[in-house]
Amino acid sequence: MLLYIHIPYCDSKCHYCSFNSFTDRSQSKVEYIKALQRQLHKELETLKPYSITSLFIGGGTPSTIEPSLYEPIFKLLNGYMQEDCEITIEANPNSASLDWLKGVKGLGMNRISFGVQSFNSAKLKSLNRSHTPQNAYKALEDAHKVGFENISLDIIYNVLGDTKALLKKDIDEAFRLPINHISAYELTIEEHTPFEKTPHMRVENLEMVYFVRNEIIQRGFNQYEVSNYGLYQSRHNLGYWQLQEYIGVGAGAVGFRANQRLYPHSNLDAYIAHPLYQSIEVLKDEDILLEKIFLGLRSKVGIAKKLLTPSMQTKADFLVEAKKLLFQNDTYYNINYLLSDEIALYLM
Ligand SMILES: C[S@@+](CC[C@H](N)C(=O)[O-])C[C@H]1O[C@@H](n2cnc3c(N)ncnc32)[C@H](O)[C@@H]1O
Ligand code: SF4
Repeated sequence: MLLYIHIPYCDSKCHYCSFNSFTDRSQSKVEYIKALQRQLHKELETLKPYSITSLFIGGGTPSTIEPSLYEPIFKLLNGYMQEDCEITIEANPNSASLDWLKGVKGLGMNRISFGVQSFNSAKLKSLNRSHTPQNAYKALEDAHKVGFENISLDIIYNVLGDTKALLKKDIDEAFRLPINHISAYELTIEEHTPFEKTPHMRVENLEMVYFVRNEIIQRGFNQYEVSNYGLYQSRHNLGYWQLQEYIGVGAGAVGFRANQRLYPHSNLDAYIAHPLYQSIEVLKDEDILLEKIFLGLRSKVGIAKKLLTPSMQTKADFLVEAKKLLFQNDTYYNINYLLSDEIALYLM
């Protein structure tokens, strides 16, 4: 079982971001963690001992919460996490101090993912990031110093002003740091964000997508999903793309169990008052199949042949002949993840 815990606090709001997070509610952190514990306790009652294979603490900004506040959560999880559980925490370079990093490492976290986005000061400003390139170098070096072996960073590209030289420099800088994973996302314009009013901030440039991919692969990382590369491939990410079941704890988290999506309150006060509430969306078999096709084609997971209808299998076999898909171990694998949407539409 995968477990996701959501931390809905940020120091400032990035212009592109629609994640559920608040910049003016830090006085509610203690109450929020208590509410998290109540929901987690209830969810754990449904699990067998040692059945959690991966825990991901994401946000928002988990590095806005001091390590001691995470302690009771780890106490609750005692006996539920497998011995080799992947435990990832997201962090922002401005708040991941050496002490914070030591603290979360001491609690047992074994993977850390930094939202770096770029090493270019002007680009960071245009995204309204609250850190400098120097903060990022220091935080990543410090994470290595305190003993994190699995370190990832996120970058964003196809932003107005991006050039090949700028992105090559970003990738060069990233590879100078002790990382074994990169997520490289094309900017998307989300509703109810400042960038919704300036949609030209996103640039449509397919050549740049291939450029970024090739620059990362040339430096030795394997692409295992359309935006994800690494020497180490995250078990949590792969679990999502295999559509494994997951528990989602926290305001605005999402769970997926027994073909249902489960949504706790996303409003902070409502969640703190009623952490056990979840609205339920029942997924139809067709929805699940569609999701498996999209996720499988976007990643190295692929699509098991037995999932497809006979007419889909005929089309998939044609794509194997045309060398667009690879067929191995009764599974169709995508050769070029960047074509996944087109291939999915053709199959359906
Ligand atoms: C859940 S966010 C949280 C990470 C962390 N708070 C941070 O920003 O440093 C994870 C990543 O999603 C990416 N992201 C969020 N919104 C995006 C958007 N509109 N377009 C592209 N990438 C986005 C960013 O790279 C970000 O680091
Ligand atoms: S990108 Fe990260 S830091 Fe920025 S607002 Fe979103 S969650 Fe917060």
